[in-house]
Amino acid sequence: MVEISTDLSGVKLRNPTILAAGILGVAFATLDRVANSGAGAVTTKSIGPEKRKGHPNPVVVETPCGLLNAVGLSCPSPEESFEELKKAVKELDVPVIASFYAHSEKGFGQLAEKISEAKPAFLEANISCPNVESEFGSAFGTDPKASARIVASIKNSTKVPLIVKLTPNVTNIREIARAVEDAGADAITAINTYGPGMAIDAQAGKPVLTNKFGGLSGPAIKPIALRCVYELYEEVKIPIIGTGGIQTGTDMAEMLMAGASACGIGTAVMSRGIEVFSEICSELEEFMDTQGYSKVEELIGISHE
Ligand SMILES: Cc1cc2nc3c(=O)[nH]c(=O)nc-3n(C[C@H](O)[C@H](O)[C@H](O)COP(=O)(O)O)c2cc1C
Repeated sequence: MVEISTDLSGVKLRNPTILAAGILGVAFATLDRVANSGAGAVTTKSIGPEKRKGHPNPVVVETPCGLLNAVGLSCPSPEESFEELKKAVKELDVPVIASFYAHSEKGFGQLAEKISEAKPAFLEANISCPNVESEFGSAFGTDPKASARIVASIKNSTKVPLIVKLTPNVTNIREIARAVEDAGADAITAINTYGPGMAIDAQAGKPVLTNKFGGLSGPAIKPIALRCVYELYEEVKIPIIGTGGIQTGTDMAEMLMAGASACGIGTAVMSRGIEVFSEICSELEEFMDTQGYSKVEELIGISHE
């Protein structure tokens, strides 16, 4: 018998699979289906400070090795999202992670305070969005100082444990991770989408996405996600949710071996369907059984030894 429960900053997950942010929205009914399909935890789509339409369609395009998306952080009003979140926290039997973003340090703190009233197991700050206060509008998450200030602002506003989601689009992911850990983050999710990339419709001679460029996810980014998690495991003590390109139980085992304590599943929900959570868990159990592992913690970080 193998045991696949895992621990994330003191929160027990029945298995290491976590629905990644933004894949299936914030609606209670959908999160409930994911929990019933066997996920160890669920993450909402990033809740923003205001209702947002996002980019016009098409916003997602499949490429031979992954998805390109330019959803543009579309979301319902924070009040609507809050009601769905509250219901999910109350009724689901798995931990709920509330992903959110804002456009300023103060905005992150204010929204964190509001969302915390729903008592999610964790907040997950998506710091890959553009900083409207910076001169160039670059993403907060590419600057260690800005990332640390956001974490400080959130930590001053709430006692709910904080996960910070990092972008891989930086030269040195270690320094961002160090900055957010020093500022008080309780865990890290790595990685958000990579890129941007683009797809061109050869017949039409035009970009496929209305936004032209989109973030890349799925199998193409798995090697990048593995490298980021491997580096982070050496740099920080807080737990890591390894996310990016996980499609199978063996992919998940590799991510755990790189140093993740749990794993985000995003694009695979689209390619394999909602049953992917229980399927990946069975595959992991089979892998562990064949390889002689009895607990998830025996896999975590083993590739560093
Ligand atoms: C359609 C789509 C929407 C996404 N929306 C969000 C989001 O709202 N917030 C966020 O932090 N990440 C978002 N992501 C990124 C995923 O949570 C995940 O980090 C990324 O897709 C890599 O994992 P994967 O290869 O398993 O999909 C989105 C990804 C996709 C494909």
